[in-house]
Amino acid sequence: MNAAIRAVVRIAYSKKLQVLGFRRGWEGLITNTFTALTPRSVGGIIQLGGTILHTSRCPEFRKREGIRKAAETLGLNHIDGLVVIGGNGSFKGALGLSAYTDTMIVGVPASIDNDVFGTEETIGFDTATNTAVTEIDKIRDTAVSHERVFMIEVMGRERGFLALAVGLTVGAEIVLVPEVKYRKENLFKTIRENRAKGKKSGLIVAAEGIGDTRLLARQIQRNTKAEVRLSIIGYAQRGGSPTARSRLLASLFAQKAVEMLSDGEGNGVVGLQNGKIGSVELQKSCETEKTLDPTLLELAVVLAT
Ligand code: F6P
Repeated sequence: MNAAIRAVVRIAYSKKLQVLGFRRGWEGLITNTFTALTPRSVGGIIQLGGTILHTSRCPEFRKREGIRKAAETLGLNHIDGLVVIGGNGSFKGALGLSAYTDTMIVGVPASIDNDVFGTEETIGFDTATNTAVTEIDKIRDTAVSHERVFMIEVMGRERGFLALAVGLTVGAEIVLVPEVKYRKENLFKTIRENRAKGKKSGLIVAAEGIGDTRLLARQIQRNTKAEVRLSIIGYAQRGGSPTARSRLLASLFAQKAVEMLSDGEGNGVVGLQNGKIGSVELQKSCETEKTLDPTLLELAVVLAT
């Protein structure tokens, strides 16, 4: 997000536009709390995780009164264009706000979940994937040495994009995602068969959205005789220095967002589409569910043989 903030400010500056950064997300718009951002004030942040503006989950913004206050703030400060950096929840908020203001709004997708419709990738997804992969490569050492099966839970809310990317790239024997219902019996059978064909250790990458991984790990141990351990990667996935790819994507998304606003084009979400930077309508992005690529799921199964 910091790489995106930096790029928005500097690209806007090159177009002689002024930028204000609202603090703590929607909360800053409701309370009219902002900082003037300049090319100098966003120096030295491209390599930092998180956001220098801070962020928050803002329940008040779900109510009409909150949205009205935010719209008032936009008017009060004569804001022509608003760049919203965030995920699905932020964009739903932006859509709600768009009904109360003439300020143009453009969304810049940033989420480790990669579940925003209209973009093949969100800012932070590559960073979170790499963080999880680095950790799991280390976990594999114990799995192999002790001949254990590890279940590793990764984030992603109700979606399996992160788990699938991580599972494929660590060489997991099994990838569990909320989008595909699995039968426990089949899972146990696969693990038993793997052991019979000489795979003494194994990695199961599970999305947090599949349910209680602690219980599932216990059930696998009971039903397969394998020694099973659970490792939850957790919040490390939401932080840390962004990868070069995440920084590049942030810079390109920011460039597109500022260009759209200076061309008078609002109510959109920028995105990576067939490898190129494009955009989609804000409403369409909010109302359409991004689908998990079934060919990647098939690949994960084939590669696990
Ligand atoms: O949506 C991004 C995300 O990192 C999810 O993957 C995760 O479930 C959630 O946010 C955690 O955020 P919170 O601590 O606010 O629940």
